[in-house]
Amino acid sequence: MKRIAVLASGRGSNFQALIDAIGAGTLPARCAGLVTDNPQAYAITRAKKAGIPVTVVDYSGCAGKDEYEAALLEAMDRCNADLFVLAGYMRILGAGIVSHFKGRIINIHPALLPSFAGLHAQRQAIDYGVKVSGCTVHFVDEGMDTGPIIIQRPVPVCDGDDEDSLAGRILIEEHLALPEAVKLFCEERLMVCGRAVHILPP
Ligand code: GAR
Repeated sequence: MKRIAVLASGRGSNFQALIDAIGAGTLPARCAGLVTDNPQAYAITRAKKAGIPVTVVDYSGCAGKDEYEAALLEAMDRCNADLFVLAGYMRILGAGIVSHFKGRIINIHPALLPSFAGLHAQRQAIDYGVKVSGCTVHFVDEGMDTGPIIIQRPVPVCDGDDEDSLAGRILIEEHLALPEAVKLFCEERLMVCGRAVHILPP
């Protein structure tokens, strides 16, 4: 069974979706650890409840980005995971980490990439006036939200939506998309050809 580790910075509802899917037997994986940059993250409470080891790499305790990245890489290495899942991890991973774990890091983003990369994706979608947004699970490369796309789920933008209402509706789809993408990885059913990710039959 594959070992996954999760990086999360805050609430951790996507992390919870993975814990629940593993618990329900629908995701054939073992969660080997949570790594967080935020000592206050609610994700830590979720991990403790599920008996998952937690490592906090506190950015403010580091002398700068290089020291933080070195500590983060060490923490990730110690998880001994096949796959690292960024589930609301709100920093950009350095190129050193991305190349060290090449093809073994995925991220969930609350928009249909390549639209609305970066922070506040739901607000960007509202401000732009799109009629459809959604979520994307993708492999992480050196860019910001630019790696090959594994799964997308669309969500309509309704009249009267604000950032919060849209974010809430997108989150429901995130909780389906992320366990599904992790499952495909764990079943070795993802084949990356350039930008395209082919999903192999079971
Ligand atoms: C999710 O909407 C996730 O897609 C987003 O942060 C939220 C975390 O929620 N991630 C990003 O915006 C990354 N750029 P959660 O902590 O409840 O899973």
